Amino acid sequence: MEKKVKRIGVLTSGGDAPGMNAAVRAVVRTAHANGIECIGIRRGWQGLITSDFVTLDRGSVGHILSRGGTILYTARSKDFMTEEGRLKAVSTCKMLGLDGIVAIGGDGTFRGALELSRLGVPVVGIPATIDNDLGCSNYTIGFDTACNTAIECIDRLRDTMSSHERCSVVEVMGRNAGFLALYVGIAVGATAVLVPEHEIDFERDVVERIRDSRLAGNTHFMIVVAEGAGHAMDISAKIKEAVGIDPRVTVLGHIQRGGSPTARDRETATRMGYYAVEALVEGRFNCVIGTKEGDIVEIPIEEALQMKKHLQMNRYKIMEAMQLGSSAR
Ligand code: F6P
Repeated sequence: MEKKVKRIGVLTSGGDAPGMNAAVRAVVRTAHANGIECIGIRRGWQGLITSDFVTLDRGSVGHILSRGGTILYTARSKDFMTEEGRLKAVSTCKMLGLDGIVAIGGDGTFRGALELSRLGVPVVGIPATIDNDLGCSNYTIGFDTACNTAIECIDRLRDTMSSHERCSVVEVMGRNAGFLALYVGIAVGATAVLVPEHEIDFERDVVERIRDSRLAGNTHFMIVVAEGAGHAMDISAKIKEAVGIDPRVTVLGHIQRGGSPTARDRETATRMGYYAVEALVEGRFNCVIGTKEGDIVEIPIEEALQMKKHLQMNRYKIMEAMQLGSSAR
């Protein structure tokens, strides 16, 4: 017979992402709907080591659905990377009587979850990162909001860039992945987009695109660069040297991680939170709740960590094809 789940923990770890609160709320409310107590572990895996927790009743997660950030705080725990730290975390789980943990975050969070599961603590992961770089899930919570935030910023930049007939180089986050940069680049009609997945030929991918655009009549240019593909300052200097214009540089930075989550992030986070608790209740654990073509799927953590997601290079072609002056090539 399945062990009855009486109390679970929930935590957020790694870089925060808009929609994490929506996921926490869904976990708490689904747990209570199933007669399960819920404990919030603060500051990610570190909180499990230091026994930093808060009890969460249904009301405690009211009015957080629309809030960015995470009410549970987040951290990247170095202590959890040590065996000593992990054993302390297991002790906390025992002391609190936790029958399972729902861990919300990215690949670092899931690596921690895997280690904990190996020590006998049942865990379920929920993918949340603005980078959208997890192979186990088509979609990660926070990506849509981050895209929209970046788009809003770049639209504003475009206003002043077009008035002054300038070139803008905008650096977006994404760690080693170009999802954010490419989706945003398509959505703002960028002159060029630099992503780590596409080997950069500066002359072809930047200089020629600016030149083509100018020849087609444009007098302002928007270059979007993924942080994993290079630094905006360097790209700007190279543009200045190659075409003699003086680009303005904007590094969007952590602004992309904040803000109220979009409908997609709220809805996805709520579904993932619901299914994470359902899985624990039904005796399925040590898995990640992902999405595949919009549907929820459960993938064993170990397998989830091996899965790779590739940037769809047809999207890169689409971005290129949208340029006014691209017919020359
Ligand atoms: O993984 C999310 C992310 O925002 C990345 O896009 C970025 O490279 C990194 O976190 C920044 O981390 P920190 O918040 O530690 O500066």
